[in-house]
Amino acid sequence: MKNKIALITGASGGIGHAIARAFAMQGAHVVLVDNHAAPLNPLAASLQSLGIQALPIEADVSLASDMQRIMQQINEKFGQLHYACNNAGILHAYTPIAEQPEAQWDHVMNTNLKGVWLGMKYQLPWIEKSGGGAIVNMSSTFGIQGAQPGSVDYAYVASKHAIIGITKTAALEYAKGNIRINAICPGPIDTPMFDKPNWTPEALAGKLATVPMSRLGQPEEIAAAVVWLCSTQASYITGHALAIDGGVLAAR
Ligand SMILES: NC(=O)c1ccc[n+]([C@@H]2O[C@H](COP(=O)([O-])OP(=O)(O)OC[C@H]3O[C@@H](n4cnc5c(N)ncnc54)[C@H](O)[C@@H]3O)[C@@H](O)[C@H]2O)c1
Repeated sequence: MKNKIALITGASGGIGHAIARAFAMQGAHVVLVDNHAAPLNPLAASLQSLGIQALPIEADVSLASDMQRIMQQINEKFGQLHYACNNAGILHAYTPIAEQPEAQWDHVMNTNLKGVWLGMKYQLPWIEKSGGGAIVNMSSTFGIQGAQPGSVDYAYVASKHAIIGITKTAALEYAKGNIRINAICPGPIDTPMFDKPNWTPEALAGKLATVPMSRLGQPEEIAAAVVWLCSTQASYITGHALAIDGGVLAAR
């Protein structure tokens, strides 16, 4: 991946940070996007010490104007784009359907689903112009299974299911265009989103009891798969949703 360009959204967060580092370790230049700007410059500086270029961009993935501005900045700095990981996402705790506020539904859907759709909409023409590449969209095990009361909110489940649908559809559109598009479905991963410090020992033990491997995943275990799916080693894989979940879905 030396001198290829990789765009990662949600780069300030646990999984996005690990994905950016994993691309940089392969020699790719990285574009780091997040609406939480503070961690972006230190991350860029630490990745540049690996000998690659890093472009930090504060942007909101749910806004078309921001997504267009990201592509303009990439064009000005690098003139091409080869890989994108549409990873930014948010969730809320489970709320009964009768009680979930409409504004909360809209915020989650706009970030998780519209953000991935806008990402692909503006990234794909550039990846095509650059001679091809790959996209990985971040879904979840909740993109395949429903959420039990006590876990995540309805919009999170809806958005993560829909990400798999638009991933497959874009994969079909670009199957002959030298661009592969896949999704990843992580199980519980130890990041700020999972928020382990705020779980009671009993609640955490209950959660881990649903994971056949009896542990949380690490962000690096997701990052390794993102980079692999973008690499030529995965050259015949497109339209796939890959669970990386310690066996959670196998047990359903
Ligand atoms: N951690 C888990 O257990 C888990 C499990 C399954 C799927 N995922 C998915 O993995 C992805 C990354 O999650 P994480 O665990 O690293 O969470 P995280 O909260 O550590 O990181 C998410 C990042 O996305 C950014 N973000 C949120 N809204 C944004 C917006 N509108 N524009 C730009 N950036 C925005 C946040 O600022 C944050 O830096 C998410 O899509 C999440 O749904 C996480």
